[in-house]
Amino acid sequence: MSAVSTNSTEHSSEKVLQAKKLSLSYFDGDQTTHALRELNLEIPTRGFFGIMGPSGSGKSSLLFLLSGLKQPTEGEVILQDRSLRSLSESERTALRRTRFGFVFQQPFLLNYLSARENIILAARTDDRDKENRVDTLMFELGISALAQRKPAHLSGGEKQRVVVARAMANMPDVIFADEPTAALDHVNGRTVIELLSRYRDRGAVVVVTHDPAMLTNADHIFHLADGVLERIEYN
Ligand SMILES: Nc1ncnc2c1ncn2[C@@H]1O[C@H](COP(=O)(O)OP(=O)(O)OP(=O)(O)O)[C@@H](O)[C@H]1O
Ligand SMILES: [Mg+2]
Repeated sequence: MSAVSTNSTEHSSEKVLQAKKLSLSYFDGDQTTHALRELNLEIPTRGFFGIMGPSGSGKSSLLFLLSGLKQPTEGEVILQDRSLRSLSESERTALRRTRFGFVFQQPFLLNYLSARENIILAARTDDRDKENRVDTLMFELGISALAQRKPAHLSGGEKQRVVVARAMANMPDVIFADEPTAALDHVNGRTVIELLSRYRDRGAVVVVTHDPAMLTNADHIFHLADGVLERIEYN
């Protein structure tokens, strides 16, 4: 899917996302908060990556910008060779739906649909094979037995596993997870992380967490402090 480039030394198929001098300020009445300050980083095309840092250091803000959910105050995000800035809001929405998958702290599922239907709903509408693909994915993730259950009949850990499958349903380039284990006990948290990390050979998995135990297997850990990238830990 990545564009072939012959004339640019900057372009590399090895990175899927680049943040360039990324700044985000929140303006709230007469108060301005600089959530991110000229932050540069690169997310490789494949792998399992962590983002850590104290509360308020800008982790969620960074995910919002990398995924195009928010627009930076300054700087830009490049997805492969395209700046997200150059896209309209509807193009960004389409991009999020087709190229990215999301897992948040709370598993939001539609209550009137079964687990399987929730996952199918997220899969691309133009894809005829999607039901088979979703069944295979649920099998691979060990959640086939949950397929017909409604969210109200699932535990928190089970719901989050369904959300992980939903995030993979489109075979996205990047899966973003913002504290996906924060509402789970350690065992369920590890399971969710293990399932997420299985995607590392197909795309980039970017996980924000406070718990270093969830990142023992990560390729890189980006440490944020007060809106800047303090250091990168390579494993
Ligand atoms: N909507 C908002 N309006 C004003 N300030 C905000 C808003 N959202 C975040 N901030 C501020 O921006 C900074 C970064 O917030 P962000 O949510 O990105 O941090 P975080 O690292 O994800 O924190 P946590 O670990 O608590 O989730 C903080 O100082 C926060 O108070
Ligand atoms: Mg946050």
